[in-house]
Amino acid sequence: MITNMIVLSIETSCDDTAISIIKAKSSKKLDYANFEVLSDLTASQIEIHRPYGGVFPAVAKREHQKTLVPLLIKSLKKANLLKESKTIDNKKISKIKKNLEKNEELFLQLKEFLTKYQIKDINKIAVTIGPGLEPCLYTGINLAKSLSYYYNIPLVGVNHLEGHILSSFLSPHEDLELPAIALIVSGGNTQLIYFEKIGKYRIIGETKDDAAGECFDKTARILGLNYPGGPEISKKAKECKSNIYNITLPRPMINDKNYDFSFSGLKTAVLYHSKKNKITDDYIKEMSLEIESSIVDVLVDKTLRAIDEYKAKSLLLGGGVSANQKLIKEFKKKTKVKLFIPNKKYTGDNASMIGLVSIYSPNIKKIIKPISNLKINE
Ligand code: KG4
Repeated sequence: MITNMIVLSIETSCDDTAISIIKAKSSKKLDYANFEVLSDLTASQIEIHRPYGGVFPAVAKREHQKTLVPLLIKSLKKANLLKESKTIDNKKISKIKKNLEKNEELFLQLKEFLTKYQIKDINKIAVTIGPGLEPCLYTGINLAKSLSYYYNIPLVGVNHLEGHILSSFLSPHEDLELPAIALIVSGGNTQLIYFEKIGKYRIIGETKDDAAGECFDKTARILGLNYPGGPEISKKAKECKSNIYNITLPRPMINDKNYDFSFSGLKTAVLYHSKKNKITDDYIKEMSLEIESSIVDVLVDKTLRAIDEYKAKSLLLGGGVSANQKLIKEFKKKTKVKLFIPNKKYTGDNASMIGLVSIYSPNIKKIIKPISNLKINE
């Protein structure tokens, strides 16, 4: 058992560049009292992707390259773990240069960092290795590999989904009772996961096409609302006072005897309906209310069935959409099992959840290359 371990974690799976530093007293029990988040920083790219109405991978990669090293400096300064360097290893820098041929901007900033600074007291570096957008994942992985090599710090890879599953433990929480069901809902993922014990998970259902967050984003765009669409739709739904248009959207796959989802039909239904109507403010509010109700109904219904069938004792939420107030309200009203909801700042992509997994889960990877969705127990 390692005690008093400090982990630097890096998350670049999608459009958020995130770095966190966690200090853990023990790696045995995932208990809030056992660790401390020394620094948790995220540079959001929301404004950059807004004109596209979603994440543009090549642009996201470029932004990660630009942002990573300045964010690293800020994080280490915040945690007081940075000191001036007295020696420079030019041999190692040349090797890093070769490895970062395709990340020139990252290399130039990193070179300056390595020659100027020494990192203090970091025992482990953890990096997200997937699922996510490959060019983005590689940027974080390349930085993590370079730091690990230059400063001789062990490196591990973490599954992004496991980060979301455990994200509610980053804040004070009740004791977890297992088995549990986790519902991970974000811009890129919609999964129902059977959680047997820490490190052992099985995806029992997932979206066949668009993720729930993606559906919020795409339907918001149809209605002329801003990106990200989830909070915008939610805001409009709350303001809805009328029922002029009497809109009824489908609840896709709600009665199917499996735990899979499909949200692309919902987007098409919104598109056709909106083409037949004048888009007034009342229309936007009524449509937003129906979009939110449809997504929440499907997510809640299927999750409650999974809890029953798998005799789960806890339900964990994670991912950007788990910040949705209607979703939370419905689960609070309808579920009889213990409910774990992440603090809002940890619902979206963040690096603390990656650090947490690297300390408490046996499910970490020594081979650092991007992995795909289902390989959570690879
Ligand atoms: O986990 P996340 O930050 O990263 C990605 O997977 O990209 O999730 C972002 C997603 C977006 O699709 C956004 O519209 C959605 O989460 N989202 C919400 C809310 N806040 C963010 N959806 C519904 N209600 C919200 N309050």
